[in-house]
Amino acid sequence: MLFTNIAWLLAGSASASISTSSFKWHWLNNPGVEPVSPIGRSITIQVPPDTDIWRPALSKHNFTAPYLYTTVPTAHFQSVQVTVTGPWKTLYDQGGLVVSFPNHRNPNATRFIKAGIEFNDGTPALGVVATDILSDWSLSPITEKQTGNAKATILVERDGTDAWVYVLENQGKTRRALRQVTWAFNEDDAQGLAKEIEVGIYGAKPTEESGEGHSRDKIAVSFSGFSLKTV
Ligand SMILES: *[C@@H]1O[C@H](CO)[C@@H](O)[C@H](O)[C@H]1NC(C)=O
Ligand SMILES: *[C@@H]1O[C@H](CO)[C@@H](O)[C@H](O)[C@H]1NC(C)=O
Repeated sequence: MLFTNIAWLLAGSASASISTSSFKWHWLNNPGVEPVSPIGRSITIQVPPDTDIWRPALSKHNFTAPYLYTTVPTAHFQSVQVTVTGPWKTLYDQGGLVVSFPNHRNPNATRFIKAGIEFNDGTPALGVVATDILSDWSLSPITEKQTGNAKATILVERDGTDAWVYVLENQGKTRRALRQVTWAFNEDDAQGLAKEIEVGIYGAKPTEESGEGHSRDKIAVSFSGFSLKTV
């Protein structure tokens, strides 16, 4: 009996592992730009103004930001991590990770977590939005001493039915918790759990630049060290 169980476990884990290198990548809201895998390369997104990922009311679902994503079988998702930086200077300039839980019957009810840097109160901060029915948003200061454009390494990790959002500090040696999202992998609600989730990087610029001739200015949000772990 013991041997049977071990053999079954080994067979189970071997057949369950999937390779992220074969994943196909797609752009949402970035017409004319070829999708490429962010694994093992740096990516810069030229983010136009008047874009966001945000649902403050059921009738105001907004998923207009450029988003480079791949589809992951939910049962296999373990974590996603990236380092993001950019010349943040205007209210709500932002970029980071998005994990979305598509609702194919009603795209306006798609659930999502976005986490990264967002400019608020005159300074870049660590921002997390979790959107089950409607969006809520939290901010945490960037506490590490930095020079130049603010930079952060963000990790979204599955822990049972939760998703945890962390910022990695001290060259990745320490992680600081930013958010616990209890609905993420939880089937214990009316919507249930999507079979596949979408995972990737995004930038958004809700606010136009002021000054004559600058209203269409973009922000260049850059990403490195992307890592997607599956089981
Ligand atoms: C999305 O949000 C941006 C920033 O607030 C806004 O300019 C844009 O009109 C919104 N788009 C939609 C489709 O709601
Ligand atoms: C979906 O959201 C958009 C706003 O982003 C709204 O115009 C549209 O009416 C919504 N559709 C449904 C079915 O609620």
